Amino acid sequence: VRDGLKKPLVGVIDDGTKTVRFVIYEAERSEELAAYQLDKTEVQPQEGWYEQDPMEILNHIRTCSEKAIEQLTELGYSKEDIVTLGITNQRETTIAWDKFTGEPLHPAIAWNDIRTDSTVDAILAKVPDRNKNYLKSISGLPISPYFSALKMRWLKDNIKAVRRASRDKRLLFGTSDSWIVWNLTGGPQGGLHITDVTNASRTLLMDLDTLNWDPMLCRLFGIHRDSLPQIRSSSELYGVVQDGSILEGIRLSGILGNQQAALVGQNCLQAGQAKNTYRSGCFLLYNTGPRRVQSTHGLVTTVAYKLGPNAPAIYALEGSVAVAGGAMKFLRDNLKLVKDVVKETEHIAGQVFSTGDVYFVPAFSGLYAPYWRKDARGIICGLTAFTTKNHIIRAALEAVCFQTRDILEAMNKDCGMPLSKLHVDGKMSSNDLLMQLQADLTGIPVLRAHSWDMGALGAAVVAGHCAGVWGIERWRHHATLADTFLPTTTDDDRNVRYTKWKMAVQRSLGWATT
Ligand code: G3P
Repeated sequence: VRDGLKKPLVGVIDDGTKTVRFVIYEAERSEELAAYQLDKTEVQPQEGWYEQDPMEILNHIRTCSEKAIEQLTELGYSKEDIVTLGITNQRETTIAWDKFTGEPLHPAIAWNDIRTDSTVDAILAKVPDRNKNYLKSISGLPISPYFSALKMRWLKDNIKAVRRASRDKRLLFGTSDSWIVWNLTGGPQGGLHITDVTNASRTLLMDLDTLNWDPMLCRLFGIHRDSLPQIRSSSELYGVVQDGSILEGIRLSGILGNQQAALVGQNCLQAGQAKNTYRSGCFLLYNTGPRRVQSTHGLVTTVAYKLGPNAPAIYALEGSVAVAGGAMKFLRDNLKLVKDVVKETEHIAGQVFSTGDVYFVPAFSGLYAPYWRKDARGIICGLTAFTTKNHIIRAALEAVCFQTRDILEAMNKDCGMPLSKLHVDGKMSSNDLLMQLQADLTGIPVLRAHSWDMGALGAAVVAGHCAGVWGIERWRHHATLADTFLPTTTDDDRNVRYTKWKMAVQRSLGWATT
């Protein structure tokens, strides 16, 4: 590019459950120019425990940003063309660190870790009728191992270094966005301890109306306000990178949890629009506008975004599924049935016309929405001597679709108006068979985005919005759609199948406690 034709660029740090990416977009054409990604080391010290190394997250950000900027240079741009940075991250994953040394006090506890099962029971014992929905009217969330407050409580109960740091007023807690910002903006030498409303709304400590930490919730979980980050909007000038890395000097102006970021990236900015992201989990978010809808059918209420300190908060109803693409990974790594989780599962499952009445409920660590049952465990049922691996793989794909249908049914009841189409993204959405099954098992058109990575794009939009290079109004009119999958089944067909799925789910409930 000649200098005169250069357009402002926006960089995004994308800290996912499995990978760290750095992506650079050209704001005016919403075009991805360069990207680099590294896998994270998976640590599973015990069954159901999932940990990450906080230092690896930082090192990966350094490497990925250097490599992506190298690609940029080859295109004739330079680092100086990146006008601002956004961050999008796995939500709920919790890190505790020392304010003075910057040392993590324990590995990060990932969102899908279920070590806090008994912590949940201890909290439930303190609320009337052991009602897991007791805190929902304030926080929007049920009491579940999924959310950060439980992980913070566990760290304080079980890790001496965390307890000591708390006593000495050195303890900082945060989701991974907070950890990244604190380190990028100076660490122990004065890093910013902040988070955005979308991430804060996943902790079980924030009041959804005031958008502040709620004193009663903090007391219930025993988390001191001083160890928590300040809650900011999703799009504002937070600070400037000061960590001596290649990103030094670039402004930071956007933070969004990755599922909320995909909602923005998918352009679901009007109340009534929804998207579903298929990755290792699956997350369906329905924009309810400035109105927070309290679910009575097992969904959570969450902040979708808040585009500036004085902008109104926009809310969403969310249906979270813990295991979606993760079931394919299980078939690959544990059962060795496939080598590739996206294209090969499509190919093998496509060799049979049905699952042969096999149902697979991948409740490896309980079931999230709409069941919220930590005692559920995975089952494959309906096996006969005729069953092959093709049927099982197809049943795993269908499980993703049935879990999405569970969420849609709940959403339709909560909103009183059925969703008429579903925008989709996420790596697993590139599996055509999965998308066709999704349309067939829900009976609504499935609209696939042009890129599977809508989360990073959404974070670029909010960061660019604040920096004045990516107008949100213009974004509203941006087309993101690439393919449409239309249902080919009858209501009767799909309802019979769905009834059978629900019978399979019933069989998985309570397995861990019987
Ligand atoms: O709530 C968990 C979610 O944010 C995880 O995202 O796609 O990185 O697994 P992902």
